[in-house]
Amino acid sequence: MSGIEIRNLWKEYGDQVVLQNVDLTIAPRAFIALVGPSGCGKTTFLRMLLGQETPTRGTITLDGAPLPHEPDPDRGVVFQRYSVFPHMTVLGNVMAGPELRASRFLGRTFGARRRAIADEARAMLAEVGLAGSEDKYPAQLSGGMQQRLALAQALMMKPKVLLLDEPFGALDPGIRSDIHRLMKRLWNEVPMTVVMVTHDLKEAFTLATRIIAFERTRDRPEERLRYGATITKDILIWPPRSAGKTTIWDADLLPGRDDPTIPGPIAGTTWPKEEPDADAYPPLR
Ligand SMILES: Nc1ncnc2c1ncn2[C@@H]1O[C@H](COP(=O)(O)OP(=O)(O)O)[C@@H](O)[C@H]1O
Ligand SMILES: [Mg+2]
Repeated sequence: MSGIEIRNLWKEYGDQVVLQNVDLTIAPRAFIALVGPSGCGKTTFLRMLLGQETPTRGTITLDGAPLPHEPDPDRGVVFQRYSVFPHMTVLGNVMAGPELRASRFLGRTFGARRRAIADEARAMLAEVGLAGSEDKYPAQLSGGMQQRLALAQALMMKPKVLLLDEPFGALDPGIRSDIHRLMKRLWNEVPMTVVMVTHDLKEAFTLATRIIAFERTRDRPEERLRYGATITKDILIWPPRSAGKTTIWDADLLPGRDDPTIPGPIAGTTWPKEEPDADAYPPLR
């Protein structure tokens, strides 16, 4: 059930130790906010979880199995900017992942299969508040809309783990609180574990179940290369939050809908209950 185990993880680039001795067990359905000073290795850590980067030492397992050393559909990612394809329409962006996956097996998608993907993509776009923008191009959308598109694109692959690298950092404050509500709802409704890098502690406290801080324990200039960052704080949010449940603090965010006109749970989309069956999740390779 999407639990992540990280044991004695180190990352070095040449002589530079970026991360050292990171030990972390992430419960299934947790929402981890990862904070820490610029340059301490947060993005590097996320890229190792994604499989874009290989640890120098140590292990990462997902549901007990070693993480493949390349990205796969179990893990979705949204970066601060430029996660979407600029030359594709909004609908094309959201259909691209499932189409690519299907086409690896069937040659190309057409007919009923393609229509099913399009229907699911439209439902997902409605879910993130982008109904009516299907035929636009990303450049015609605001920053907040582009990030909602990036979320929709990542969620279409039904990832077990959603990785977010300062996804809302570039947005205006008003738009950020809207997208926080959306993010919270998606986490409640979609059976996924979330790891989000943020430099905004308020955002961390608003969304997360647990806050992890990375810091260098030695930061004198002559020590900087030889000592990396590691976990220095591990804060469980109180009162505890769990996906699909509300706490007194979330009263304004739940019953979970940021827009009462949108029906939920996510229309036209079936999410795996526990383990996905093999047919629904053919491997990308
Ligand atoms: N591909 C790479 N090659 C060499 N050094 C890198 C590479 N990626 C990141 N680094 C270095 O690792 C350190 C951590 O970077 P990063 O993970 O981006 O930090 P953060 O996201 O916390 O700001 C930085 O000193 C950066 O220069
Ligand atoms: Mg970064």
